[in-house]
Amino acid sequence: MEHLTDKEFERVCTHLSRTLGLNMRSKRVLLDCRLSRERNRLGLPSFSDYLDLIESGTNPEAAARFIDLVTTHYTYFLRERRQFDFLRTTAFPELEASRPRRTWNILCAGCSTGEECYTVSMIVEDYRRGRNLPPVRVTGIDVSEPALEEARRAVYPATRVDKVPPRWLTSYFTREGDGFAVVDSIRRHVSFARANLSDPEALRRRYDLILCRNVIIYFDEPTRERVLDTLHRHLALSSYLILGHAEIVRDRKRFAYRGDSIYQKRSEETHS
Ligand SMILES: C[S@@+](CC[C@H](N)C(=O)[O-])C[C@H]1O[C@@H](n2cnc3c(N)ncnc32)[C@H](O)[C@@H]1O
Repeated sequence: MEHLTDKEFERVCTHLSRTLGLNMRSKRVLLDCRLSRERNRLGLPSFSDYLDLIESGTNPEAAARFIDLVTTHYTYFLRERRQFDFLRTTAFPELEASRPRRTWNILCAGCSTGEECYTVSMIVEDYRRGRNLPPVRVTGIDVSEPALEEARRAVYPATRVDKVPPRWLTSYFTREGDGFAVVDSIRRHVSFARANLSDPEALRRRYDLILCRNVIIYFDEPTRERVLDTLHRHLALSSYLILGHAEIVRDRKRFAYRGDSIYQKRSEETHS
């Protein structure tokens, strides 16, 4: 198998940084392996031909597969469970007091194959019991179209629901062939859209809660700051931004730290 040369690797990294804000410099083996297979599949004689094709933007299907190959989609239901306990014990009671009648808008940025959005919707459904809550809308965005297709299908093999509590499995899933399908009462609160977070115009509205977990860790430093700016701008005052455990916000003027990688927006001050 032909490997990426230093020059080709540099070209891939520059393209990924420019278009998606990804820092893939430590992932050479992974890129080499995944992109070699893809180049062979397309029957292209060299990496340069493959990169010409991707950079030209003339083949949307190849471009979508390229994005899917260079991104990491690992996720599971109830990932970092304590953050979901925080929703139940703190974020939702606060929203119930501050927005008793208006729709709660929740964003999962970098939602991958949908498990995070459906987990939020299931937590909401549990919380709703015996309460008179307003409508809740969960929006999942991701740059990978194949991941979003899987999210919209909402059918998961048994190995992907093994961390789901038995009560949820019986209440919020039905069997579909060998898989487990999320029920309509959970799905109807959730929608998905393709968006590139490194684009400052990626978001359209303000949210009452944002989860952006295990996403900014893949970005280069300028993109990370730009994305945090965007998320700050699109988060309601006093609302929460939930990150992954390896991700931090240094700017404590705009965000107060509440533990467990959870930040509360404390001012409207912007950087620009
Ligand atoms: C590791 S998954 C995280 C999934 C979920 N948030 C979780 O914590 O389980 C990271 C996701 O971020 C998405 N992603 C990477 N770069 C992105 C970008 N520039 N814009 C939007 N999504 C992006 C990837 O496609 C991938 O699905």
